[in-house]
Amino acid sequence: MKPVIHTLYDEAEIAARVESLAGEVASSRPHQLLVVAVLKGSFIFAADLVRAMHRAGLELEMEFMHLSSYGAGTVSSGNVQVLRDVESLVKDRDIILADDILESGRTLKFAKDRLLERGARSVKVAALLDKPHHRKADIQADYVGFNCPDKFVVGYGMDMGHAWRQLPFIGYVAGEEAAPPRETTGV
Ligand code: IMP
Ligand code: MG
Repeated sequence: MKPVIHTLYDEAEIAARVESLAGEVASSRPHQLLVVAVLKGSFIFAADLVRAMHRAGLELEMEFMHLSSYGAGTVSSGNVQVLRDVESLVKDRDIILADDILESGRTLKFAKDRLLERGARSVKVAALLDKPHHRKADIQADYVGFNCPDKFVVGYGMDMGHAWRQLPFIGYVAGEEAAPPRETTGV
């Protein structure tokens, strides 16, 4: 039977939030802005965000960091692996780390600390979804798309076992409301 996906945020709502996040970033007047997309889950969000930033009048460069967190079952171990790192120099630049979901915070804390160690002028987090219910690391998002209920969501780049990234909206799979067991998560 075909799974039913319940919509949480539709295409129009997402587009409006992304546009206003770009406006918020523009009003902070960043210096040598570098947007770092944390792969894989952020690829659609980041693609829309940088184009909205362009419309908001920002000049920027874009980079990618592919991270993977290993967890047993539903519990993230906090062991973050770098599968691909940023190539550009980050020294003295204002950085926006764009990610799909801020949950335990371990992935983004790791990425943020790494960029600060290399001399970034500032590192701000833009999370499309904030899921604060299971926060483990001391980190907050500077820009939040939506405060998300404690459900396992898919679509708009986010997956469940590699499926559903292509959905143009964000939803959850009926009957899978809680986080399913995850082994290796290419975040
Ligand atoms: P954390 O903040 O280190 O726990 O990692 C958050 C990452 O876990 C996100 O960037 C996603 O890749 C993944 N993740 C967490 N919750 C969900 C969800 O509901 N759906 C899909 N991926 C999720
Ligand atoms: Mg992610």
